[in-house]
Order: sequence, then structure tokens, then C-alpha cells
Amino acid sequence: SRSLNLAVIPGDGIGQEVVAEGLKVLSAVLPQDVKLETKEYDFGAKRYHATGETLTDADLDALKQHDAILLGAIGDPSVPSGVLERGFLLKLRFAFDHHVNLRPSKLLPGVATPLAGQPEIDFVVVREGTEGPYTGNGGTIRTGTPHEVATEVSVNTAFGVERVVRDAFARAQARPRQKLTLVHKNNVLTFAGHLWTNIFNKVAAEYPEVATEYIHVDAATIYLVTQPERFDVIVTDNLFGDIITDLAAAVSGGIGVAASGNINPSGAFPSMFEPVHGSAPDIAGLGKADPTATVLSVALLLRHLGHDAEAARIEDAVSADLAERGAKPARSTSEIGDALSVRVAG
Ligand code: IPM
Ligand code: MN
Repeated sequence: SRSLNLAVIPGDGIGQEVVAEGLKVLSAVLPQDVKLETKEYDFGAKRYHATGETLTDADLDALKQHDAILLGAIGDPSVPSGVLERGFLLKLRFAFDHHVNLRPSKLLPGVATPLAGQPEIDFVVVREGTEGPYTGNGGTIRTGTPHEVATEVSVNTAFGVERVVRDAFARAQARPRQKLTLVHKNNVLTFAGHLWTNIFNKVAAEYPEVATEYIHVDAATIYLVTQPERFDVIVTDNLFGDIITDLAAAVSGGIGVAASGNINPSGAFPSMFEPVHGSAPDIAGLGKADPTATVLSVALLLRHLGHDAEAARIEDAVSADLAERGAKPARSTSEIGDALSVRVAG
């Protein structure tokens, strides 16, 4: 018999509610012979206030024991900006070497988009997850004076760029349209830009079936709105990827349906799956949050662990649910989770 040993981090705000629904759907979709074990961890604002800790070395050792991690959302207005972001989320992504930050965007039938008409949107952003301006390399001098200077250094290594570019080519090769777009700003960020472009072109030679293009990040924001059908797989750096995936979510149904995976493809450390949205303290505890993004993140988790059929069942259930949503009265978080559980159980 097979087993799935999951670390569950509900976190703050609506994280609690949406993760409960994600687990509900997971239990409903797993075949009888897969034994699901979950262990809940209390990271987030409460623990920080109680202990001053965000994520300790002992926590990392405990998390390492799991097959994968399901995260709701971490963040609360009572904690100063940056403390939980750096001390929990980024610490975990760096410690577990989550260098592939996978963020698919698919506009499903019946889902509202602010774009005109119902454009074809079906692409995936492979955002580098461990380098770029996120490494915390920088500082200030003459701090607090009118002459303060702050630097924020973007770190790009040939090793780090090549492994994420290779991952993106492999994903593009496996998709029907076989197209990969490199998004950067190599006309201004010439050092990192040339490293990315050179490695992209070198790896491209090994993937003759994959059509390639290069687009500057500013132009990419235009095309994501005016011609989203032009994209199949996008590979980009950590910060550009952060920005364009919020835009991608906005045009393809909103953050209520945007899922993501922080992936360590080698399996050396567990990968972590989370909705792109945050903890939304303004609606926490009201049963108003849409658990769909978390449920779709569970599908990414299952596919990562090789449970492809179950992942597809969840995606089909979400498609069917969204297609009928407009015609129905608004439902609560748990009503949506119940409906999806019924659908995946077939
Ligand atoms: C995201 C978030 C994080 C990021 C923040 C909370 C550190 O915006 O997952 O996209 O910038 O990566
Ligand atoms: Mn973001």
C-alpha cells in the first residue's frame, strides 16, 4: 500500500479555512490504498507573538520528514512587514531549495476575466525561486540621514539560471504547443540579462522542437493583457515572476483560483504547494474565502508526487464547478469544498 505523508501549515487568516477544504478534497480523491497522514504545524503570526520564532532549524528538520507541504497563507497586520515574509516563507523556499516556483494560469469556461471577450489563456510561469533580488543581499549606509543609500543586489548564478531554464524547457517540450518565452530586462539589467539570455539560447539548442522567444518584462505586461494566448511556458527571474504572476492571476480568474508550487525537482527536500493569495485578514473566519486556489494547489501537489489521475480529477471537478458557478447563489468556503469533494469522489 502507498502512503502520502503531508505537512500541513494552515497559517494565518483565511489560510485556516481554505486548507481545511483542500484536505477535504484530498481525502475524497485519494484511492483507498493510499494512506494519507497529515501533521499540522502552527507557523504564522500567533506563534511569532507567543515565542518570537518564525521557523527554527528544528522546524526545518521536522518538515524535511514529509513527502510534501501544503500551506494556506502566512501574514498578519499585527506583525511588522517583512518579518514573516523573510523569516518564514522565503526562509523555507531557500532552505528547501525550491528553485522552481510553478504558477499556472488557465482561464476556464464560465470564469470572469477583466479582458475583452473570452481569450485563450493557458500558460504556466516558471519563476526562479531562490535567487535574484530575493536573496537579501544589500544594505544601507548613512542610514536614516538625508544621504542614505540603500542597495538590493540581484544574485544570478549560472548554476541557478541553468537549472530553472532546463526545467522550463522540459515543461515546454511536454506541452502541446511547445513554446517557451524568456522574460527579462536584458536591455537595462545587462549583466544578469546576458547571463539569462546566453544560457537560454544554449539550452534551446538541445530542444529543437520548442519554439522560443524573448520579451522584455515591461512589454510582457502588455501582451499578458492584449495577447495572453501568445504564452505557453514563461521562464523568468524571481522578482519579475512575482510581479507577472499576480497580473496573470488577475486576467485568468483572479487570485481565488491561482495555485502555485514551490518545487524542488530533485526531491532532495519536500516541495510546498500554496494558493497565490495571502491571508486576507479582512474576511478571515467569515466563510467567504474561495478555497479553489488551495484545491488546485493540492492538484499540483498530487501531480508532483506522481498521482496524475487524481490531480486530473481535481482539475476536472474545479472546471465543472466553475462552469456552473454563475448560475448558482454564492456559496461559503466549506460549501465549495463539499461540492468539489462530491465531484472528485465521482
Ligand atoms: C508570493 C508572495 C511572496 C513573494 C512574498 C509574500 C514574500 O508575494 O508568493 O508571490 O514575493 O514571493
Ligand atoms: Mn507575489
